[in-house]
Amino acid sequence: PLVALIMAGGTGTRLYPASRSDRPKQFLSLLGDDSLLCETVERAGFADEIFVCTGKEHADLVRKHVPEVGVLVEPEPKDTGPALAYATHRIREQVGDCVLLCLPSDHHIAGDFETTARRAALVAVETEGVVTVGIEPTRSATGYGYIEPGADYGGHFDVAQFREKPDAGTAEQFVKDGFYWNAGLFAWTPSAFLREARDSPLSPLVSALEDGAPTLGFDRVESVSVDYAVMERTNDAYVVPAKFEWDDLGSWDALERLVSGENTVLGDALTIDATGNVVASDKHVSLVGVDDLVVASYDDRVLVVPKSDAQRVREVVSKLRAED
Ligand code: GDD
Ligand code: MG
Repeated sequence: PLVALIMAGGTGTRLYPASRSDRPKQFLSLLGDDSLLCETVERAGFADEIFVCTGKEHADLVRKHVPEVGVLVEPEPKDTGPALAYATHRIREQVGDCVLLCLPSDHHIAGDFETTARRAALVAVETEGVVTVGIEPTRSATGYGYIEPGADYGGHFDVAQFREKPDAGTAEQFVKDGFYWNAGLFAWTPSAFLREARDSPLSPLVSALEDGAPTLGFDRVESVSVDYAVMERTNDAYVVPAKFEWDDLGSWDALERLVSGENTVLGDALTIDATGNVVASDKHVSLVGVDDLVVASYDDRVLVVPKSDAQRVREVVSKLRAED
């Protein structure tokens, strides 16, 4: 069977203050009526079974948003590497032999998703490798993984090199050299992924899972994303180019690419002599004579930052957490 595994344990700090620890971005409906998580579940509707993996603090929110799917609760939030090893192992126990399609829940996707996803799953079965989906880059973003395509197997490619979140100069070179962005959307059989994970920083967790001691495994494993832990290291990866429209809703400036207008407004705003601003608010906002700002305000919180520094919202959230 084809099993969709949706990753929904992230915190989405760069979308503060819409995204808060009790309401991370996958539970927000910034652009449509449905939350990103609901949209992801709908998009995966062609799978035979759907699971969502998340941490303890968000399990109830997941059950409320998407009561129809199975929820796998990882013992500790340690990024996508441990989460995927845990979920892959649990699904193999529950479902048996299958092919997994691992989907992030923080993306905007439009167009024909199913064709690419099914193709990735097929390649995963045929190659017994780990398969990722590649997006043609439109700028030299530093927040993504980059994939150098190697040998062409007629529509999918060997991964010659995988580099997670390179610096700006390297990213620019990668774009010139025809690399893909990693969509963060993977396909594998449980045996293929656990084989690769065993030979990675995830190995203490994989051994503990096999011994039936997941909690011990999470104590022993470091926090690491699947991109660093497995994708950068494996020699057995393939990339399937995406045939759909894709955007990562990672930070406030991303909204600009998805909403048109002189200013990008979610909510209600009055702008006078103001252009290039991103306004997202549950209150009425007025901007006069300012350009290229992010103004985001939800509940009792207000954030103002130059659009070019939208990634630095992370710093706000870590300061606030440290003061807690
Ligand atoms: N269950 C669980 N546990 N899910 C998690 C955890 C965790 O500890 N941490 C993150 N997630 C979920 C997020 O909710 C999101 O849906 C997905 O996993 C990806 O995590 P992000 O934290 O958003 O990763 P990223 O955007 O920095 O980078 C990844 O995605 C890029 C494309 O958007 C990488 O795969 C990059 O290589 C890729 O380009
Ligand atoms: Mg992301």
